[in-house]
Amino acid sequence: MQKLEKLYEGKAKKVYKTDQPDLLWIAYKDDATAFNSLKKGNIANKGVLNNLISAHFFELLAVSGVPNHFVKLVNEREQIVKDLEIIPVEIIVRNLAAGSMAKRLGLAEGLDLGSPVVDYCYKSDQLSDPLINDDHIRALKLATPGQMQVIREIALKVNQILTAYLIEKNIILVDFKLEFGLHKEEIILGDEISPDTCRFWDSQTKEKLDKDRFRRDLGRVEESYQEVYRRLTGKEIQ
Ligand code: TMP
Ligand code: ASP
Repeated sequence: MQKLEKLYEGKAKKVYKTDQPDLLWIAYKDDATAFNSLKKGNIANKGVLNNLISAHFFELLAVSGVPNHFVKLVNEREQIVKDLEIIPVEIIVRNLAAGSMAKRLGLAEGLDLGSPVVDYCYKSDQLSDPLINDDHIRALKLATPGQMQVIREIALKVNQILTAYLIEKNIILVDFKLEFGLHKEEIILGDEISPDTCRFWDSQTKEKLDKDRFRRDLGRVEESYQEVYRRLTGKEIQ
């Protein structure tokens, strides 16, 4: 397969055309941003680790019956995905209170929410991804109620699969963000699943193993991404 012209460059990835019309070539970057790009930095090897970690989760989900856009790795930093028509809604699934939810509702970080809480955000950098609800999604015609029902069911299934998988690796899945798109009328999971888009805590120590280490200047950022990769695969990148 051939990598053709760059279509788009986002905060964490570059997207290229390929010689196959329904496939894209994704290159993961080491650039890191937080708080809608107010904070900018670079995490050594993040692109490689997130590419490999995302591929690992997408393969796990595919064998568990969750359709997703991942096709194959090209190299350590790049992967081929199906070209989706992205639905501009970010789906956040939370098991424990943390981050923006803990702040907004005055909750202690780590509070068990009993059963998962699903939040939706309107995917708009200009508006800083505001929180929205089902009625907003319908009114703005971002997705149909039927599509949102499917998306919610898949997101909760992803939560079950990943929570059970990660607990075996001594990781608590605190919360995560998913994006979906349409591929020939079918709703498919897209984007990435990585320490950039999830909160991972060590089961015993509750140490953070994710992008909160960058957001909050906690240090050992690269080491934490490496640690997640090591726990998932038993391997280390050079
Ligand atoms: P939040 O608590 O800041 O709303 O984040 C919830 C989850 O979503 C957390 O696992 C990090 C992830 N996330 C993203 O993937 N992209 C984003 O832009 C934000 C704000 C959060
Ligand atoms: N990636 C988002 C940004 O730059 C936010 C985040 O992950 O905290 O702004």
